[in-house]
Amino acid sequence: MTEKPARYASWTQGKLALPELAEMKRRGEKIVMVTAYDAPSARLAEAAGIDLVLVGDSSGMVVHGRDSTVPVTMDEIVFMTQWVARGAHRPIVVGDMPFGSYETSDEEAVRSAIRLVKEGGADVVKLERGGSSIRRARAIVEAGIGVMGHVGLTPQTSTVLGGFKAQGRRSEEAQAVLEDARALEAAGCFAVVLEAVPAPVGELVTRELGVPTIGIGAGGATDGQVLVWHDMLGLYEGNAPRFVKRYADVAGVITAALERYADEVRSGAFPEEQHAYAMPEEELAALRAALAEPSGG
Ligand code: KIV
Repeated sequence: MTEKPARYASWTQGKLALPELAEMKRRGEKIVMVTAYDAPSARLAEAAGIDLVLVGDSSGMVVHGRDSTVPVTMDEIVFMTQWVARGAHRPIVVGDMPFGSYETSDEEAVRSAIRLVKEGGADVVKLERGGSSIRRARAIVEAGIGVMGHVGLTPQTSTVLGGFKAQGRRSEEAQAVLEDARALEAAGCFAVVLEAVPAPVGELVTRELGVPTIGIGAGGATDGQVLVWHDMLGLYEGNAPRFVKRYADVAGVITAALERYADEVRSGAFPEEQHAYAMPEEELAALRAALAEPSGG
């Protein structure tokens, strides 16, 4: 584990201040974000010194077993954000706005963002795409809520992008990614996620923006990185996206523990005496005597 940065001491006194992210970009200090969907995970993220915890709609796929993030609802994100906000005191908690919660109008977007902050306990919100999302981002910022943008591969609209695949590989596409990121910054976003774009595009957008970029599959030059909890911890078997680095094999650890438990239950090795409650001898004797007596009547 790397040594904690000097500012770690001040983190323990409260929430990492939002403007500190821009300062980190200025100082060339990397920003670390991870997703989390419940209080114990949020606590672990905080203990590890993570800067931002994203309650992502990736939950729809990695926690709830769906094929895409599209069906995820506001109620789900609000509920999970409450759990995460209880566990993460120092990291900035980002509530992900699910598909359908901000597309139809600025009013709907502001209403959804307020719900995430007020009911869910999010510190800030995140929304996907350029286009109409730029107006929505501006409206939410004007309502007093911090907004993180998200461009490149935007999973909520992956169907129109041709699937879960890298974006911005062609010059015009890369220019569109840059334009969207710039427009989101101009709309007041405090940071922009760049997902699945070539490393040179990640570098270019990072250089062009004044606000921090947080990359996921965008190369090493972005101001920060984000990974999905279940991907990075190896909480499932099978292939993860190319940009994922697996830092642990938690699925392997859990499966081995469950197999041992099942074996021990079946063999009678569990539970042992230390896992059981004792009873005073005289009470046991009284119980046996009471049961041995024929019941009157
Ligand atoms: O929902 C999510 O986890 C995300 C990250 C991939 C950035 O949007």
